[in-house]
Amino acid sequence: MQRSIGFKKINVAIFISGDGSNLKNLIYHSHKKNSKFKIALVISNVQKAKGLNYAIKFKIKNKIVNYSNFKDAEKKILIELKKNKINLICLAGFMKILSKKFIKNFNHNIINIHPSLLPKYKGLNTHQRAMDDKEKYSGCTVHYVSSKLDSGKIILQKKVKILKNDTLKILSNRVLKHEHLLYPKALNKVLSNL
Ligand code: GRF
Repeated sequence: MQRSIGFKKINVAIFISGDGSNLKNLIYHSHKKNSKFKIALVISNVQKAKGLNYAIKFKIKNKIVNYSNFKDAEKKILIELKKNKINLICLAGFMKILSKKFIKNFNHNIINIHPSLLPKYKGLNTHQRAMDDKEKYSGCTVHYVSSKLDSGKIILQKKVKILKNDTLKILSNRVLKHEHLLYPKALNKVLSNL
């Protein structure tokens, strides 16, 4: 494990499957003067993921990994992680579950952002389910990844009030803005403990 001694930045890989707004935001934070991390690799399991365009625009090494064979996909990813000396993985809208073996192999240095107040609303359609249940709050959580869906130790969480006139779109967009504040904060917290 490399440590952040002096100028040495921590190499981070971001895993995506979709829009990549969290990726874009983390790239922005990585370019800040005192940033402790460098995004050295972007992995996508979706060839046409919009988020890949940010990797291309900012000249970040990126790989599309075909998941038709799960074991092979994870093997390929581990090779890329080694090759690029990655110390930490951030999942950002990555729609695949990582195996226990993969997580162990990567020494548990994997974090994820999830759009709910975990342990509530694991899985998909989180805001819709929170609205249907007449919850007062939705929100987002950054947590360590375990092989059980959305279940690892919580790093940081932000509550976001559900307002009377919220539609799914309005609420999702409002929470997403909070995700963009929460993820870099949580990442810095994790990096300072590496
Ligand atoms: C975010 O809501 C994140 O919490 C969830 O997937 C979404 C990804 O959004 N895991 P984006 O691709 O970063 O825009």
